[in-house]
This record gives sequence, C-alpha cells and structure tokens, in this order.
Amino acid sequence: MKALAVLHAAQLVTLAGPARPRVGPELAELAIIPDGGMLIRDGVIAAVGSSAEIAPQIPADAEVVNGSGCVVLPGFVDAHAHPVFGGNRVEEFELRARGASYEEIAAAGGGIRSTVRKTRAASEAELRAQTLKHARWFLQCGTTTVEAKSGYGLTTADELKLLRVIRSLQVETRLELVPTFLGAHAIPEEFTDRREEYVQLVINEMLPQVVQEGLAEYCDIFFERGYFDEDTTRRVLTAAKGHGLKLRMHVDQLTNSGGAALAAELGAATADHLEQTEADGIQALARANVQPVLLPGSVYALGKTRYPRAREMIEAGLAVVLATDFNPGSSQTPSIPMVLSLAATQMKMTPAEGVTAATINAAYSLQRGDSIGSLEPGKVANFSMFDCADYRELAYYFGVPLTHSVYVRGERVFGAAS
Ligand code: NIG
Ligand code: FE
Repeated sequence: MKALAVLHAAQLVTLAGPARPRVGPELAELAIIPDGGMLIRDGVIAAVGSSAEIAPQIPADAEVVNGSGCVVLPGFVDAHAHPVFGGNRVEEFELRARGASYEEIAAAGGGIRSTVRKTRAASEAELRAQTLKHARWFLQCGTTTVEAKSGYGLTTADELKLLRVIRSLQVETRLELVPTFLGAHAIPEEFTDRREEYVQLVINEMLPQVVQEGLAEYCDIFFERGYFDEDTTRRVLTAAKGHGLKLRMHVDQLTNSGGAALAAELGAATADHLEQTEADGIQALARANVQPVLLPGSVYALGKTRYPRAREMIEAGLAVVLATDFNPGSSQTPSIPMVLSLAATQMKMTPAEGVTAATINAAYSLQRGDSIGSLEPGKVANFSMFDCADYRELAYYFGVPLTHSVYVRGERVFGAAS
C-alpha cells in the first residue's frame, strides 16, 4: 500500500494527550497544529507535525493530499445510534408537527412499535440496503465509527437478523460498526399482557444466542416508565454481564427514575440520555466512573426543551461523550456537526469540548481509545477533512455540509482528492 500524506492543513486537530478519557479543562484541549501535516503508512498514522516537519519524511511515491484551507479532525466516533430499521416514521413526524406528543403516539401503538412492525416485515437484504444508505450518511458527515444497536426486531429471529446485518455491513461499508444488543428496547405488541414472558425470552433465549454467535460487544436496555423497570433492568443486565457483554443504558430520558445511580451500581460503561438526571445522579456517575453519553439531537427532534446538564457533568469530572442517537423516532440525524451545534447553543459546551466528546472520549466509551479518536502515531488513520479553516465553524454553521473528504484506515471513502 502506497504511503499517504496530508500537508498544509489550516488546522490539524490532533486531540493528542493522555491515554485516557478527557475530563474537566482537558475537554477543551485539542492539541491543534497550524499548517499541519501527517504521514500514513499501511493505514496507520506514522508521523504528525507541522508541514515543515512532515514534508521531508514523505516517500517519493506517496500520495500527498493538499489540506490547505481545510480543518483535519479524527473521524467522529458516534457512540450511540440505532441505524438498522425498516421504513421510517414520517407520518408520525407530521402528527407531532400538528401537536401530538411522542408519548401519545407511542401509547396509540406507534413509536418504537411501528418501526418494529416495518423492521420485521423487511428481509435481511432490504435492511442491509437501507442500513447501507444510513452508513453513507454517517461517512458524509465525517463519522468513521458508529455504535449500532439492535432493538427493532424484538423476536429472537429478528434481533439476530439486525445484528447479522450489522456484521455483514462490515464487508460492504468502510464505516466501522460496534454492535450492541438492545432486545430490551420495548415490550413488543404480542407480549403486552405477558411482559415477564418477554423478559424471560430476552434473558434465556436471545442473550445466549447473540453471545454464542459473537454478534454483540455491548448490551443496552431502555430503563424508563412503561418500558423496563428497575428490577427487570437489573436482571437483564446482570445476565448480560454474566455472558461477558459490557453495558450501555438508556436512562432518565423522559422521567428521572434514578437511572444514573442504577448505571453506576451496575458498572455500566455508559449512561445515555440523562435529560432528567439531577445532581445526585451526576455524583453517582462520577463515583463509579461511568461515561455520560449526551444526545441533544433527540431533545431537539422531540421538540423538548430540557437538555442534559452538561456543564454540571463536566464540573463533576465526568468524561462526557456526545452522540447522535440516530433513529427513526426521536433523532433523525446522523450528523455530529449538527450535534456540536446543539451542544453549543443548548448545553453551553464549547466547540472544543464538543469535539473531544465526539472523538477521543467517545472512542474510550467503546473501549477503542487506544486505536482511534485522536491523530497520534500508532493510531488507525481514520480522519475527516472539512471545508473550513477553523474547527469552530463546524458547530457555528449548521445544516451546511462542510465535509470535504473522509478517510478510513488511510483510504478515501468519501469526497474527492485534493
Ligand atoms: O434513544 N429511547 C429509546 N430509544 C430511542 C428512540 C427510538 C424510537 O423512537 O424509535 C432513543 O431515543
Ligand atoms: Fe437511543
């Protein structure tokens, strides 16, 4: 494989720093190199520095990318997404525009259940094609790694179908996917009056098969009133841990049910959403070293106004992560730049804090901090170039496709050469 080099980036945003998630003031330290350069061999970063330092190290036959006028960032790492689903919910979107609430629509049989119906009806090939489209969207937004949850199948066969789609996509797309089993996303229609039976199915049938086929790294659950209660959450996640899966959890999204404390007690890698979490929950996460994954796209898309308390979390020393929550019901964006905009305007996170939360901290939350999330020698060459000279423009302009080109393992997967 020919070597690849980037020269003259207006800003090479490296995120170089300690080999651990960033906390407190570290979130704002991006280790930017002006007029930056980078040398890549065999898909791995070999050297990072000023263009003057890098230029003499470039082999004669290397491909050299001209980064002038561009910002170069590590590929975004989206640590919370639901990219595998059939159809969409554009009708419900319109109903909400006309005044119905997400909860009302769910209570009337819509919401997650309506996507479950469409997802079950779709063949594995149809789901693969639709998810491939979503994968292209992620890459087009500068994201190179996405955590991908199941959760719209809710039968053993359909949950396995979704996780197999995720696995098979690793051949068809260069986007890197990290699979999470979310069989406990909702109680499916046919189990409405037999909730405990569904829980048994998740624990005794789905989990063992998912693990046996090696289809997931993480197990997640929607801990929320009307979905899964505290006792059930403990049972499902304790079983998952017993099978060697690590834990991520949807908590305190619509109601404060003490989800942050439960995530801390169970030793989850992440507690996600946290819109309703208060000071005691934040302290519990801090004591247990759980990373909060904040999803402002879902607050925005649901037309709500209560965003998670990012500033208090940063002050409490939490290694905050930002993600899209891309899904057909509550967050229809695959765009981390959109999330950076929301984080700045609605949660008062600076663009620098946002970038750290969506790169190196997100990588650590997926146990990949040693290989991705920053531009440092020895790391995988996943990076994105944007048509702006100051990284803050990514949060400042919104709804503008600023992506110039995207590279995974040193190969261009989106955009044109320059
Ligand atoms: O993360 N909270 C639960 N799950 C999704 C919503 C899924 C849907 O509405 O389809 C979320 O917001
Ligand atoms: Fe979610």
